[in-house]
Amino acid sequence: MTDAQGRVGVAVVGAGVISNQYLGNLTRYPDLDVRIVADVFQDRAAEQAAAFGVPRSGSVEEALADDDVEIVVNLTNPLSHFQVSMMALAAGKHVWTEKPFAVELDEGAKLRQAASEAGTRIGCAPDTFLGPGLQTALGLIAAGEIGTPVSALTLFETPGPAADHRNLELLLTRGAGPLFDMAPYYLTALVQALGPLASVVATARTARPRRVIQVGPRAGQELTVTVPTNVSVLAQFESGPMSTSVLSWDSPLKRQGWVEITGTRATIAAGDPNRFDGEVRLKRHGAGDWVGVPLRGQRSGRGIGTLDIARAIRAGRPHRASPELAYHVLDAMVSITQSLRRQGFVSVESSCDRAEPLPAGWNPYERTL
Ligand SMILES: NC(=O)c1ccc[n+]([C@@H]2O[C@H](COP(=O)([O-])OP(=O)(O)OC[C@H]3O[C@@H](n4cnc5c(N)ncnc54)[C@H](O)[C@@H]3O)[C@@H](O)[C@H]2O)c1
Repeated sequence: MTDAQGRVGVAVVGAGVISNQYLGNLTRYPDLDVRIVADVFQDRAAEQAAAFGVPRSGSVEEALADDDVEIVVNLTNPLSHFQVSMMALAAGKHVWTEKPFAVELDEGAKLRQAASEAGTRIGCAPDTFLGPGLQTALGLIAAGEIGTPVSALTLFETPGPAADHRNLELLLTRGAGPLFDMAPYYLTALVQALGPLASVVATARTARPRRVIQVGPRAGQELTVTVPTNVSVLAQFESGPMSTSVLSWDSPLKRQGWVEITGTRATIAAGDPNRFDGEVRLKRHGAGDWVGVPLRGQRSGRGIGTLDIARAIRAGRPHRASPELAYHVLDAMVSITQSLRRQGFVSVESSCDRAEPLPAGWNPYERTL
C-alpha cells in the first residue's frame, strides 16, 4: 500500500448526519476515490452509498479488508472514535477521525503510538482552519497585521443542540456537551493563531439537567444531561497571550462563531471556526470601524483534512491536521475538565507546532495525483 500511486482510496465509517456533508465533498475531490460506506447499521450505510454513488457498502470489517482503501474516515459517535480508529490503524490504514480525537487522554496517546508504530497517518477534525476564512485570518496574524498577539475572546452560546438530531442523548453525555463537541473548533483556531496552550482554568454548570426530545418516535422522552452545558475557560498560551472562552448550551441568545484576537496594533475577528468561509474583519488601533478582509483561497468544506492527508501521503510530507495537534486539543479539554474538579489552574503538558499554511492556489477540486 505504501508504494501506491494515483488517487487515494477512502472508506467512510459512520453513515449518520455528518456523513452527508463528508460524502458530498469527498466524492467531488478528484484525488480521492470513495470506495465503501460502512456502519453498524448496514442499511444506513447502503442508503448513503446509493445516495452518493459510492460503489459498495457494508460492515467496518469489510471496509478494513478492502486493500484499495488507504484512508478510513471515522464519522462514528465520539465514544466509538477510539475503537474504530484503533481497528483501522491495526489494519494498516491511515485515519481521518471526526472530533473529538478520543474521550480520554490515554486513548489519545495510544492512537498516536499505534499510528507511529504502524507507520500510518492519523489526523483529526476540525479541518476548518484549512478553509479560506481561518487561512486568511491566520495569514494576517503571521504577517504581523495585528502586531504582537495579546489576548483572545471566543464565544459559542446557543440554547443547545438541534432538537431534531436523532441521537440527541449522545450530545448530552460523556464525550460531548459543548466542551467536547464544540471546543475543538475554538481551541484549534486559537492554537493555530497563538501556538500551544500552557495552562487552563475553568468554571461550569448545567442549568437544565433534564431535557426533552422534541421530535421523532421518541418525542417527549426526558433525557438526563451528564455533562456541563455552560463552560467558561481562561487559558494561558506558551507564547504569552491569554484567552477567554464561553461554551454554552444554556443560552437563549445565539451568539456563535466569535473568535477575536487582539494584538498590540489591531483586533482581528477571525470568523466562525465551525465554518470554512467565515467573515474576517480587522479593527486597527485608533480606526473608527471594522474593515472587512477579502478571503484568500478556494471555497471548501468538511473533508479537506482527509484530502490533505491523501496528498501528504503521496508527497511524503507531514499533513496539517497532525496527531500532535489533535492530542494537544484533547489534552486541553481534559485539563479543562480537571480544572473544574480541582477549582484551579491545570497545566497543559503537551505541545504542538502550528500547521504550515496551505500554498497559494491550493485547490481541492483539482486532480493532482
Ligand atoms: N452532526 C453534525 O452536525 C456534526 C458536525 C460536525 C462534526 N460532527 C461529528 O461527527 C461525528 C458523527 O456525528 P453524527 O452527527 O453524524 O452522528 P450520528 O449519530 O448521526 O451518526 C453516527 C453513525 O455512526 C455509526 N456508528 C457508531 N458507532 C459505530 C461503530 N463502532 N462502527 C460503525 N458505525 C458506528 C452509527 O450507527 C451512526 O450511523 C461525531 O463525532 C460528531 O461530533 C457532527
